[in-house]
Amino acid sequence: MAYTRVSDANEITARYMDSILIGERLIDSVVADESAVLLGEKFSSPVMTPAFSHLGNMNGRELTGLEEYSLAAKECNILNFCGMMENDMFKKIVDTGAKTVRIVKPYADNAKVRDQLAFAEAEGAFGVGMDIDHIFGENGTDVVIGEEMAVQTTDMLRSYVESTKLPFVVKGVLGVEDALKCADIGAAAVIVSHHHGRLPYAVPPLKVLPDIVKALKDTGVQVFVDCGIGSGADVYKALALGADAAAVGRSMLPSLEKDGAAGVAEFLRKVSSELRYIMSCTGFGTVRDIDDSMLIM
Ligand SMILES: Cc1cc2nc3c(=O)[nH]c(=O)nc-3n(C[C@H](O)[C@H](O)[C@H](O)COP(=O)(O)O)c2cc1C
Repeated sequence: MAYTRVSDANEITARYMDSILIGERLIDSVVADESAVLLGEKFSSPVMTPAFSHLGNMNGRELTGLEEYSLAAKECNILNFCGMMENDMFKKIVDTGAKTVRIVKPYADNAKVRDQLAFAEAEGAFGVGMDIDHIFGENGTDVVIGEEMAVQTTDMLRSYVESTKLPFVVKGVLGVEDALKCADIGAAAVIVSHHHGRLPYAVPPLKVLPDIVKALKDTGVQVFVDCGIGSGADVYKALALGADAAAVGRSMLPSLEKDGAAGVAEFLRKVSSELRYIMSCTGFGTVRDIDDSMLIM
């Protein structure tokens, strides 16, 4: 029989997540409350939006996709993220009223990094951060839409953390060593992620999550996760393996494209409701209680 090699981290991640099964614990259980405290604030759910960029206007609608999903995050009271963009676009996103973490790119132009972090704080961002998993490309450091990226040192990251009063989130942590460095520089949270499979054979975030959670225990650093999250079951598994929250990703795009903010709000509610249902069926009353005792792996 022919053997097919699979190097696509997205497919490996999906297979791993689907291999994790869930048992039931119904007697004495209650209807769960899925609200979550993230970066010091209470949100209606541990489901978050992804740090997306470059979403134009969809189906001829007036607002960009970035503004539309931010409006949905506001409506659902969930933590919002955005990615690579200029300050004028970021301003439009904060103006939606969503509590937004701005993930700045590891630009080679360090003045641009600092300008975007400072602008975000001045305009009322909820948090800031950087996607450290977009430094390298196949020819060295990456060039993203004409913008050069650069290696980021521990000292550089520490200086960003020290430059802002906002919580700083490091996105793209996929190993214990980087996680410990994030704790050392004073990051408020890490996002365990392979940035939709940038690295061949990248370990599924949920597979490395327990080790990272263990390493960060008692540091106060929250652990978020993304990649392949598209249902309440996916979020439940992430929480059961120690995450504080999980971000949906491309899974929200069909709803966004079709129905804009209303479509994303409906999608986010569906994911949160499924999470609540599974929590109830597994005997966990709050997200803080969830552990891996009902996962079969
Ligand atoms: C259209 C698009 C734009 C993205 N832009 C950014 C970005 O600017 N910064 C960033 O950190 N991640 C960015 N990402 C990655 C997402 O934040 C997230 O890590 C990834 O999509 C998760 O994988 P999934 O889509 O398979 O769930 C982008 C992803 C997509 C699909």
